[in-house]
Amino acid sequence: MKTTHQRLGILITSAILFFSIQLLAESKNSAAETPHRIDAAQFDSANRLVRPANIDEWIFLGATVGHGYPEEGGKKFSAENPGAIQVIQMEPAAYGYLKEHKKYADGTMISLSFYNTQEQPSPAVEGVVQKDLMNFEIHIIDKKMYKDTRAFFLYETGSDVANMIPEGNVCVTCHNKEAHFDGTFTQFYPVIRDEILGRKE
Ligand code: HEC
Repeated sequence: MKTTHQRLGILITSAILFFSIQLLAESKNSAAETPHRIDAAQFDSANRLVRPANIDEWIFLGATVGHGYPEEGGKKFSAENPGAIQVIQMEPAAYGYLKEHKKYADGTMISLSFYNTQEQPSPAVEGVVQKDLMNFEIHIIDKKMYKDTRAFFLYETGSDVANMIPEGNVCVTCHNKEAHFDGTFTQFYPVIRDEILGRKE
């Protein structure tokens, strides 16, 4: 025979169990509504990042001219030596997440394309225009996947796959030190800087 105390104990334990299951179910549902992972990056069997085929559909973040990485004794920017035009784009699902949550989802990809500047455009317009694509790089932000919280990929000319640059590289050092938002140079991307993050820098 169970005492009243024992019955009460069983009742309370069952109630706690019932509510815990409810809570668990609810937290699972809300996690489903706000996915923190974007699975757009495709890797081949050797774990190399495949060049995204739909880069033309990625969101334009900004462009810089002759903004090369500073090199010892390197060419300085001038009208005669404008350097490259760099175009920065973000994978659309990652951009949507950033717009809504003001932070990056794991799996966010951003590309940087270096275009040759055509020195003698026809007609002979002033300034510089984009010619052929020279270099192409991708930055993936993923706090769960990478020890550095991010990974960088540099595509050799004509190659459709790129190895991850090993951890602790110069890319990570400069991006973490100089970039204004989570290792990305949003100080040069006007819509993210002024509208999404609402910072005037
Ligand atoms: C000395 C600093 C510095 C180093 C080192 C550096 N970057 Fe950057 N990176 C920048 C700057 C500044 C920008 C902003 C765009 C621009 O100026 O063209 C940028 C932008 C980028 C972007 C666009 C997305 C973003 O994060 O803002 C990618 C992709 C990128 N760099 C890849 C690389 C890779 C790959 C390496 C290493 C091989 C590297 N970077 C090393 C300064 C650096």
